Amino acid sequence: MSNADPSQKTVAILGNGVVGTTIARGFAELGYQVIFGTRDVHSQKTRAALEAVPGARAAAPAEAAAAASIAVLAVPWSGLEAAIFKAGPENLAGKIVIDPSNPLDFSAEIPTLAIPVTDSAGELVQRLLPKSRVVKAFNIITATHMVHPQLPDGTPDMLIAGDDPAAKARVSEILRGFGWRTPIDVGPISASRLLENLALLWVGYGARNDHWTHAFSLLGQKR
Ligand SMILES: NC(=O)c1ccc[n+]([C@@H]2O[C@H](COP(=O)([O-])OP(=O)(O)OC[C@H]3O[C@@H](n4cnc5c(N)ncnc54)[C@H](OP(=O)(O)O)[C@@H]3O)[C@@H](O)[C@H]2O)c1
Repeated sequence: MSNADPSQKTVAILGNGVVGTTIARGFAELGYQVIFGTRDVHSQKTRAALEAVPGARAAAPAEAAAAASIAVLAVPWSGLEAAIFKAGPENLAGKIVIDPSNPLDFSAEIPTLAIPVTDSAGELVQRLLPKSRVVKAFNIITATHMVHPQLPDGTPDMLIAGDDPAAKARVSEILRGFGWRTPIDVGPISASRLLENLALLWVGYGARNDHWTHAFSLLGQKR
């Protein structure tokens, strides 16, 4: 019998929208047990997410968080703080928490940041989860390209930030498994400010051009 801890290959996907479902599918392809942590395990959206991800199950956010070694906060900015408390900081202590969120205010024609440039959603998540190892990732790309990113005119790059080098290394390995080239580490979790502003640039381009499938890449990288 194997002594391997099953939670090591279990991921809690908090949120069953397009981001949660896409990232969940990527984890399932890598052999992870996916548990959607959802506010309603019986909702139509949850059923659709379960159908889209082979082998996945759904549970209350706290149960999903407790069972996993990694959690993904695939929830809207407006529900981010509540989702963290529903999952329970104690259930996420010591674990990797991936934060793809963008604190955007959509009340104007062109979206703006909903928080001052001296803070970021990534930092807020790390403050709310002081014992977790938060990695900002996935926030600068549309859900369509989060797994197996392929664009007709080049290869996009994933930029990540976080305070824990081992957590960033594990997330980088997962991202390579999702088909990304080696992600670019842009620094500590406070560098989420840069990544969230980059997302704002991405959204602004989308809103001005009514085009939503673009992505960033860094040319001439150090090898
Ligand atoms: N969409 C993109 O292409 C994209 C790209 C980059 C980054 N992001 C970021 O990724 C995050 C998820 O995006 P998404 O488009 O998947 O979001 P979404 O469809 O608006 O919401 C995802 C899920 O969050 C859960 N949720 C928890 N608390 C909520 C609340 N108070 N109000 C509404 N939903 C709540 C719901 O699942 P349950 O009912 O199961 O709880 C919902 O289905 C966002 O922070 C977004 O900024 C999105």
